[in-house]
Amino acid sequence: MRLLIQNNYDLLSKWVANYIADKINAHQKKHSRPFVLGLPTGSSPIGTYKELAALNKSGKLSFKNVITFNMDEYVALEETHPESYHSFMFKHFFDHIDIPKENINILDGNAEDLSLECEKYEAKIKEVGGIDLFLGGIGTDGHIAFNEPGSSLSSRTRVKTLNTETRMVNSRFFENDINKVPKLALTVGVGTVMDAKEVVVIVSGHQKARALHKAVEGGVSHMWTLSALQLHNKSMIVCDEEATIDLKVGTYKYFKDIEKHNIEPTKDKETDQYLY
Ligand code: GLP
Repeated sequence: MRLLIQNNYDLLSKWVANYIADKINAHQKKHSRPFVLGLPTGSSPIGTYKELAALNKSGKLSFKNVITFNMDEYVALEETHPESYHSFMFKHFFDHIDIPKENINILDGNAEDLSLECEKYEAKIKEVGGIDLFLGGIGTDGHIAFNEPGSSLSSRTRVKTLNTETRMVNSRFFENDINKVPKLALTVGVGTVMDAKEVVVIVSGHQKARALHKAVEGGVSHMWTLSALQLHNKSMIVCDEEATIDLKVGTYKYFKDIEKHNIEPTKDKETDQYLY
């Protein structure tokens, strides 16, 4: 697992957006099938969404051949509610890019049969060939999507009970009233995220420092579901300086140092030898 430490949130957002844009553009040069992108909500990806929309506007990136799958959605909150993840995604991203509406997939938290909705979601991901890159954020309790502590690390898309910590943290979007925060959500599972070909997680701010420490320096544990990334063969956490305050100095320095030398091996055109 790579850990990329950026100086601040703005640089983090620019870096992640450009990374995703490069992936989409490289994919589109090689394949005619759409690029499949998994997406989160929350304040963490807002900067990235802004940067991606700017790249789209400037003609450097197109979402016309991109299919998206969102990570989660509250149960029994109207789609039109300003805090539904449907509303969030259109407000912060989809309304600003050239993605065809039929390429957008978000779980329906008002479906008559919630389990069937989850099964259909998993089937649709499979049908389009799986997720090429899953972008994620984390909760203060280390959850990825809404996979709260104790979630099975092989869980699939399902109904999940939200814990008090998450509902308290998210009450800031519901007039600071925890009673207004839904108690249930539909969420992709840890296993669903782990099946993606690549996972990139944004971790920003000191309130995420403990979760980052657990995910990077702790063992793999269902109590910090982000830690499952340690078992993924292509995963990366991109964080800002503030989020690193609970890491050991040695860990911080290690990742700073190794990333300095993390360059793509390139060959000299004339000699066909690798350049170092
Ligand atoms: C919610 C979402 C998560 C998200 C988390 C963090 O719980 N279900 O997918 O990662 O919020 O949100 P924020 O980025 O606002 O801290």
